[in-house]
Amino acid sequence: MQGVIVVNHPLIQHKLTLMRDKNRSTKNFRELLNEIGMLICYEITRDLPIEMIDIETPIAPMKAPTIAGKKLVFAPILRAGTGFLEGMLNLVPSARVAHIGLYRDPETLKSVEYYFKAPDDIDQRLVIVMDPMLATGNSAAAAVTRLKERGAKNIRLMTLLSAPEGIQTFQRAHPDVQIWTAAIDSHLNDHGYIIPGLGDAGDRMFGTK
Ligand code: URA
Repeated sequence: MQGVIVVNHPLIQHKLTLMRDKNRSTKNFRELLNEIGMLICYEITRDLPIEMIDIETPIAPMKAPTIAGKKLVFAPILRAGTGFLEGMLNLVPSARVAHIGLYRDPETLKSVEYYFKAPDDIDQRLVIVMDPMLATGNSAAAAVTRLKERGAKNIRLMTLLSAPEGIQTFQRAHPDVQIWTAAIDSHLNDHGYIIPGLGDAGDRMFGTK
């Protein structure tokens, strides 16, 4: 599928299967989401630009590669997007974090914003928007629209599971934003849940159901 990178590394696929199991504990579900967050982050940052800098090892001076440009911004969509955050920050500790609070109206399935906080110079940074479940695509599309309004130009979307409907809606709204996901499932049900999916990611992370 164009514009979508399915990260089908065996470790990610194995961990995702563990997460789908309805008997998985809340603690273990959270741990796995963080681990997968780290692994997808590794892939999504694969093509970051590099520059050579002068350093001295204990033995000799050398030119060594370092990541060029401003620090990344990780932008989790609350609340489930935070499930990726710790693993990603373990990998890229200097990244900035933007929080985007959106909830899905249960009647209309549309996104409603209740919180937004991002670094001022977001226009100069690569922004990775995180939401484990790309279901209707409305929340992810609304989050990216908001980030673009604030000046963000270089945006990528990171999800765990995607529905074809969500990918289509998101890509219609933001054809310039590439998606990284661990799997594309069959479809959405009438309540906007991904089938077969893994249930409500937020509830499973926080034990709220
Ligand atoms: N959000 C979830 O957490 N799960 C779904 O299946 C769809 C949206």
